[in-house]
Amino acid sequence: METLVKKYLDTAARVDTIKCVGHISRVQGLLIESRGPVAVIGEMCRIEAPKSPGPIFAEVVGLNSEIVQLMPYQETDGIEVGNRVVASGSRLDVGVSDKLLGRVLDARGRPIDDKGEVEASIRYPALAHAPDPLKRRPVNERIVTGVRAIDGILTAGKGQRLGIFAGSGVGKSTLLGMIARNTNADVNVVALIGERGREVNSFIENDLGPEGLARSVLVVTPSNSPPLSRLRGAYIATAIAEYFRDQGKDVMLLFDSITRFARAMREIGLATGEPPATRGYTPSVFDQMPRLLERCGTSDKGTITGFYTILVDGDDLDEPVSDTVRGILDGHIVLSRSLARAYHYPAIDVLASVSRLAPAVSGPATTKAAGSIRRSMAVYAENSDLINVGAYHAGANKSIDDAIAKHSAIEDFLIQEIGEKAPFSETAQKMSEITGITIPPEEL
Ligand SMILES: Nc1ncnc2c1ncn2[C@@H]1O[C@H](COP(=O)(O)OP(=O)(O)O)[C@@H](O)[C@H]1O
Ligand SMILES: [Mg+2]
Repeated sequence: METLVKKYLDTAARVDTIKCVGHISRVQGLLIESRGPVAVIGEMCRIEAPKSPGPIFAEVVGLNSEIVQLMPYQETDGIEVGNRVVASGSRLDVGVSDKLLGRVLDARGRPIDDKGEVEASIRYPALAHAPDPLKRRPVNERIVTGVRAIDGILTAGKGQRLGIFAGSGVGKSTLLGMIARNTNADVNVVALIGERGREVNSFIENDLGPEGLARSVLVVTPSNSPPLSRLRGAYIATAIAEYFRDQGKDVMLLFDSITRFARAMREIGLATGEPPATRGYTPSVFDQMPRLLERCGTSDKGTITGFYTILVDGDDLDEPVSDTVRGILDGHIVLSRSLARAYHYPAIDVLASVSRLAPAVSGPATTKAAGSIRRSMAVYAENSDLINVGAYHAGANKSIDDAIAKHSAIEDFLIQEIGEKAPFSETAQKMSEITGITIPPEEL
């Protein structure tokens, strides 16, 4: 009898070994290989490494007969050949509830702000599909960001996706912080992907402040975290935005930066043996990036408005990430270093920027006023050399005279102090004053 039981126990142990538990066979750079467990791509696994401070979490990124390729979420100090790899049976997901507001989470959706666990009764998958295109409502309602240059001239709609193209140090974080504090969205989800740790703290304390934090959920995966962690932070943030959208809310997703997300994906692709394609970016980057961005937008319940930052250092027009993203998004806001140097903040280069949906979400008078301001700016820019050297003589051209007359009022309109609140009614009022076009109350 005892032998029989023993036989069953032995079998059970063996089954377990084959099915849910594997053993590390090789660790090379970012890539961990193990024999077993039986797992699917994307499955979360726990590596029991006695010499590391705790279990190491990793995700299945490749399968090659009995070899399972894994990428870690954490540092792999202490990992050894032979360590047990236990499959969880599930893919990455995140516990969601209203209690997430004001909290800071890591790439696995767990709090890192020392405020304790987050109560959550439902879980949302990190890797989800975009809403059915046929069920998506059109973007037809304005979302207020509280930034005059955007609300007035580059008006965004609830559910629109915009890129913020900028070099480093021209005011992306400051701008995202202003939007987070002043938007009329119900909830902000802020994804800080691949920022330096110091920048993360400064963003939370200075740019967001307690006022912004209270209405935001932050997902933070700093630059020193492994690439999988940076990648998944983006998915977790998007999943949290989807939860609030499914509650019927208008969500503002502030994502900094899509470039670092693409780079993380490139690191993973190269480590798992994908061929480099454009600029070393692997094909999966161009497959995954659109899928992530598509998850933003309207659904049949609520909306996710996305502001995604893209790093453009130097005037690299062939940069493949900008190029791909520009094709997907419905608008781009360009931040200019020369404006920042001139202390023109927010350093939005209005003439180089466009919000494709602005006319669909603004009334006719607002659209006309915005067009009129743009025209004045364009005329002024075209003739600025002449004007600045005093070669232009007043009265020679009516539209140049008009552009010169309005120039300083437009500058005053576009420049905004970090802490300055700009409700839309006030923005519209200022536009009326500049252009002489009356914006009726129903357009506010
Ligand atoms: N609206 C603003 N008003 C005044 N100064 C600003 C403003 N936006 C940015 N700056 C200045 O530019 C610096 C860099 O801005 P930051 O938002 O951190 O840039 P980025 O995130 O693009 O690297 C800030 O430390 C600040 O001095
Ligand atoms: Mg920044």
